[in-house]
Amino acid sequence: MSRIIVVSNRVAVPKNSTTALGGLAVGIFSALKESAGLWFGWDGTVMDPVSTEVSLVQQDGVTFATMPLSSQDYEQYYMGFSNRMLWPLFHYRLNLVKYRREDFAGYERVNELFARKLLPLLEPNDILWIHDYHLIPLGNALRMAGVTQPIGFFLHIPFPPLDVLRALPVYKRLLRYLCAYDLVGFQTTFDRRSFVDSIENAIGRKAQRGEMITAWDRRLRADVFPIGIDVDEVVAMAAKGRQAKQTQKLRDSLGGRQLLIGVDRLDYSKGLAERFQAYGRLLECYPDNQGKVVFMQIAAPSRTDVPEYKQIRRSLATVVGQINGRFAQYDWTPIRHINKGFSRASVMGFLSISHVGIVTPLKDGMNLVAKEFIAAQDPDDPGVLLLSQLAGAAQELDSAVFVNPYDIDGIAEGMQHAISMPLKERTERWQHMMTILRKNDINAWRDSFLRGLLETHRKLKRVS
Ligand code: G6P
Repeated sequence: MSRIIVVSNRVAVPKNSTTALGGLAVGIFSALKESAGLWFGWDGTVMDPVSTEVSLVQQDGVTFATMPLSSQDYEQYYMGFSNRMLWPLFHYRLNLVKYRREDFAGYERVNELFARKLLPLLEPNDILWIHDYHLIPLGNALRMAGVTQPIGFFLHIPFPPLDVLRALPVYKRLLRYLCAYDLVGFQTTFDRRSFVDSIENAIGRKAQRGEMITAWDRRLRADVFPIGIDVDEVVAMAAKGRQAKQTQKLRDSLGGRQLLIGVDRLDYSKGLAERFQAYGRLLECYPDNQGKVVFMQIAAPSRTDVPEYKQIRRSLATVVGQINGRFAQYDWTPIRHINKGFSRASVMGFLSISHVGIVTPLKDGMNLVAKEFIAAQDPDDPGVLLLSQLAGAAQELDSAVFVNPYDIDGIAEGMQHAISMPLKERTERWQHMMTILRKNDINAWRDSFLRGLLETHRKLKRVS
């Protein structure tokens, strides 16, 4: 069996279990655990002068190969082009994008550096799987260095429609880079369609035949692979977590009130302000809930050096303060807004005793918390998932209570619907969604992507 090489910007060495793992880290780690693979990327540190050594650590059968970034690379590649340009652009937030040529130069430079550092670690039979928006140029850089092994790319975040994408001055260059892969995977059909439209517009003719794309003298496959979760792992963690001391303390602190929960990185794409406002509207329009429900939002700080993230943190604190100030009673605080990360085990325990899971991003590639919330529920008394229509997860979890994340009144109605849903309906919806989660779990995701990559690579070799 071939060795799998995963490359992602941030490598989550699992020991550090209280850091806020984003969807990517959780997904990849579960996918790599079973294969004796190698995970290459940034170790999360910034160093000047930077060491160019790659450090190798073995854990759970996986080799972690990591390196630090210089402060210039951190600013230009990570904070700048990745997180002030691509992240807002790919989440359709043109008002938040910041384009600087030096950031793009830094982005290309770090991708070339990663290619150079990865090269000596590669063996002839390896399969390479590159992840997410930080590393779009990496496949091309590896091909230029002579790598002939299969190389696939998976985009964890949305791919924007052409009219949004072309706000980026170098968008055609990014499209060309994506065409250097054998297989490019997306979370949803919407994302794939946007990619194909953009390619066809850029080259001025039809590029697609079935799943295959031909553009700029390259052929590749573009397809949809919605990421899943390790259902059994979450079920087991939640069952254990339900009995954990921390979960018991949380339950005691509720004093019989219903718990609404949100668990997100503190990010402007998550729709947190709208969610808080909607909860305020719930208390106003359905006043019987006052003193009877608690909304706990875990919003783990993320990308704290990026100005837009500092700004959203400040404005959320203001919104929460206003709602709590208006509705709180001497023995009840309506919102518990917690700006810190918890271990996965704690989060699963918290999710498992919650009555309503609130997942209302303004735009999201998939959102694994939505899936984890379902898997963490007590089968005898499952909670209700309130889900944004604009999250990738909405394509699969069709028995959630759907809301438009911009519609404050609609979210408040959705909350009320969820709070008052009878057990029979909750159970039916939950069972239906569990079946879907089990069918398309993390193993199915990994296997179908890697199978697709190998098949495509073979096919492309045959025709070239
Ligand atoms: C999202 C992205 C990931 C990223 C994670 C955490 O899930 O898709 O690529 O790793 O957020 O963000 P950070 O900037 O801290 O790595």
